Parts: sequence; C-alpha cells; structure tokens
Amino acid sequence: MRMRIIGTGSYVPGRTVTNDDLAKIVETSDEWIRTRTGIGSRHISDGPGTAFMAAEAAKKAMESAGVEPEDIDLILVGTTTADHCFPSTACEVQGMLGAVRAVGYDISAACSGFIFALNTADALMKSGACRTALIIGADNLSKIVDWTDRSTCVLFGDGAGAVVAQGCESEEAGLMAMNMGSDGRKASVLECQSRTMGNFLTEKGPELGYITMEGQEVFKFAVKKVPECILKALADSGEDIEEIKYFVLHQANYRICESIAKRLKVPMDRIPMNIERYGNTSGATIPVLLDELNREGKLTPGDKLMLAGFGAGLTWGASLIRW
Ligand code: ACO
Repeated sequence: MRMRIIGTGSYVPGRTVTNDDLAKIVETSDEWIRTRTGIGSRHISDGPGTAFMAAEAAKKAMESAGVEPEDIDLILVGTTTADHCFPSTACEVQGMLGAVRAVGYDISAACSGFIFALNTADALMKSGACRTALIIGADNLSKIVDWTDRSTCVLFGDGAGAVVAQGCESEEAGLMAMNMGSDGRKASVLECQSRTMGNFLTEKGPELGYITMEGQEVFKFAVKKVPECILKALADSGEDIEEIKYFVLHQANYRICESIAKRLKVPMDRIPMNIERYGNTSGATIPVLLDELNREGKLTPGDKLMLAGFGAGLTWGASLIRW
C-alpha cells in the first residue's frame, strides 16, 4: 500500500510584519535581511497559538480532500512549539476538529518535523495501523524568539500547513521513497533551552530559553545534508533527477536553496520559493508551500515532487512523492 496525499491546507496569522517594522525594534535593515535571507515579511501571531493554526490548516486540508473529521484515524503534528507541555498539539487539534476516531501525537524534529511526520505516517499506513491521516507542520516560533537578537529574530514567522493522506493500492501515486537522519552531536548549533521551572531539589528557578543559532554552521550543514538525502531518495526509488518537477524545500534561507540547487545542478525554476512572504515558519514551511502549489493548480497527477528539509537536532530528511 502506498500513502497518497489527497488534500492540502494552510493557515498563517493575519498580522504581517515587514523588515522595515523590525528595523524599528532592532538594528537591521530591509536591505540586509533581503540580501542575506530572501525574506521580505513574515506573519506573526498576536494571540492564536500552534494548535489553533494547526486546526485551521487541517480544516482546509480536509475540505480539499473531501473527508470528514470522523474519517481521520491518525493525526501527526510536526512541531517544537506546542502551546502546552501536555496535552500534545495533535490531541488539541483532534478535540477542535472532533476527529473522534483518530489517535494523535506530536513529532519533535524542529524544521524537519513535517517530513518526519509524513514519513512516519507512511510507515504506519504500510503496517495497516491507519488508513486516513492528517499530517500537520505547525509552529509559533515568534514566542521563543529573542526579539532583541537581530541575528535570529528577523528569520522566523508563524504558520501551519497540513495534508490529508490516504492509503491506496495503486503504484501510480503516493510516497515512493523516504529517508530521515539526525545527529545529536551537533545539537548546540541550533537550540532553544527548555523553559523549566526547577524543583524543590534544585537551586534553579524558572528559566526562559530563546532560540540560539550558529548561522554559518547551520548553513554549511544544510547545503551538505539536503542534497545527500535527496540523492539517496532518488537512488532508492530508481528515479532520475530530471523527472522531478519540483523540489519543495524547507524555506530557511533563499541562499541555502540556491546552494542546494547548484549542488544538484537543478535550475531555480524547479525550486519554488515563498520565503519572501513568510520567513522561516519551521515545521510549516514545506506543507504551506505544497498547499500554495496545489491551490495555484501547479500540480497534476503523476508529477514527481521531492520534499526535503533540515532542522534543529540536527535533523534532516526527504520524501519523494508522486502526486
Ligand atoms: N541585520 C543587520 N546585521 C546583522 C543582522 C541583521 N538582522 N544579523 C546579523 N548581522 C550582522 C552580524 O552582527 C555581523 O556583523 P559583524 O560582522 O559586525 O560581526 C554580520 O551581520 C554578519 O553576520 P553573519 O552571522 O556572519 O552573517 P551571515 O552572512 O552568516 O548571515 C544568516 C546570517 C542569514 C543567519 C546565515 O548565516 C544563515 O542563513 N544561516 C542559516 C541559518 C538558518 O537557516 N537557520 C535555520 C533556522 S532553523 C531551521 O530552519 C533549521
């Protein structure tokens, strides 16, 4: 059985924050941000959290797939910014949607979260554990960004993207190859220390952690690992790179995608980008971009798409799908 995407949806908060807006709170400029990252603006939530955004994206994906909440038997949410320690975002989304037959849990792989969730759903579907899955990437990074740190705060935005996937017997469509990886030895180059309260045995009081990042290390890691996992998925499936219509890549930095394109010898017109409008929405970037391509009518049955991303952990992964 192959897992096939049958619907997509996305949601971003209404409030748009431009580079010029940020230049009023930290020492930066539209020119610096655009040249180094390709970002022009991002959507920042002034209230609604990760579960709300995830549920809104999910509703649109279910509508586009033509399925009802009762049809869903698995909800996976790739997120690192759950609104609470528990319950999971997936359980909150389940409650909001009334998807009473589903089992739901979150997958923590930072910006690789959606890819990890998609690949996990495929494995569960192949095992027979589920048939109709809601797979979501959602993050509310603005609440863990240090808004006084210009080297990180200009990069991120909030949002959610979702797909509905279903098992199908046909070999003509669905997930054709996938792989994932992680390397905890490099964890410190991109992290957000936990928001702990301490306990009666520790001296520690409450701690608030923000995103910290060694930007150039992340850059080097991404441009090495993403092409590697893409080439592995191609080799495993026996597909030729020329057969891939679009490379739907994690939107962290325009220059990272350009470097990946160069390494793969693929022109940029096969690497769709929307970072200019959203910034890096972490687990949401890939499903939001996929939803845009779908709604713009750019995907036709039989198209081969390579989804690939990287993130904190460090983590990386790819999913080769036939639309
Ligand atoms: N505005 C103006 N100047 C800035 C800003 C800013 N927003 N941020 C940093 N600078 C300054 C620095 O202070 C530094 O100044 P200095 O030379 O006087 O010390 C100078 O710009 C250069 O800083 P670098 O960090 O060397 O800039 P770099 O060219 O590496 O660009 C960037 C930084 C954009 C973060 C880049 O390294 C990058 O994109 N790395 C990958 C990051 C990434 O993708 N993160 C993903 C996050 S999570 C995820 O998706 C996995």
